[in-house]
Amino acid sequence: MPYPLLISTAAQISTFVAALITAAVVVFTACYIQTKRFKVTNVYAEKDEKPSDEKENGEENGQENVPENPEFVRVGLISDLHFPMIGVSLENVIYTLKKQDCDVIAIAGDLCQNGKGKPKMLAFIESLSGEIPDVPIYVVPGNHDALHVCGKDPAKLTTYCEEIEKCGQNIRVLRNNVEKINIIGASTKLVIAGFDEFIVANKSSYITTYKEAEGMCGDGDKLLLLMHNPDIMERIGEAVGAGSKYSVALAGHTHGGQVYLPFNLEFKVLRNDGLPKKGFVYGLYDYCPNNKLYITCGLGQSFLPIRLGTTPEVAVVVF
Ligand SMILES: [Fe+2]
Repeated sequence: MPYPLLISTAAQISTFVAALITAAVVVFTACYIQTKRFKVTNVYAEKDEKPSDEKENGEENGQENVPENPEFVRVGLISDLHFPMIGVSLENVIYTLKKQDCDVIAIAGDLCQNGKGKPKMLAFIESLSGEIPDVPIYVVPGNHDALHVCGKDPAKLTTYCEEIEKCGQNIRVLRNNVEKINIIGASTKLVIAGFDEFIVANKSSYITTYKEAEGMCGDGDKLLLLMHNPDIMERIGEAVGAGSKYSVALAGHTHGGQVYLPFNLEFKVLRNDGLPKKGFVYGLYDYCPNNKLYITCGLGQSFLPIRLGTTPEVAVVVF
């Protein structure tokens, strides 16, 4: 090849590579910025309803589609915080949850990405608890809490959960436990069943816990199921028939597909989660007749500090 032509080809290649690198940096930066803001999703989870409204950062949460009813329960749902891999303003999250005037706060697991995130996570939980001391905060552990923080060691996980509970008198970590609380202004009560992390729990205990929760429901009471991995719904499926009493199940774990891949490829090819493989990835679903499952896309990130196609969220579930 003549020398000038060789120089020209080399210049073209280097220009092309530079353009590729620039494009990659721009896309990565855009995906990184996506982790810095969150939306508030209002979820009206009564029968035959779909997610009603989404607005950025909760400054103007559209409540117009959620009917006023003193019998409704308002649950502020956050999940998958993955400390220290969380980019949103924690002050803004706490402010938003406080402003939403929820009856209950639910935290659906993966509070930490690894042990390094624990001090900041505990400080966040303590601040949240201090801002809303009269609102019960229910927590279930996630796979990162159990595996990447506690190394699947039951004793370490117990200690970790105790540390979370010590952050405030209104905090309870539920690991196949059930609680029943009064909702101010409502004549009915709320029963909450919190399920232990999938990778450490005795799977048959899910059904036992679910049946215990059903047994605690009086006429008209509402039953909330809280879990990290939505696959737990498959495990208790035989107990959750058309005649079941549960009102709403809340889960996280999927991050809504943190980095969007078409055709649900992440869950169909790269992961083994059962329900997400079937398309239960993010949003409100009719899991079985008359019952709802809401899967939140969470607030933090795992593995990569970026998001593509999903914005971190605080969900307010009304039912
Ligand atoms: Fe997660």
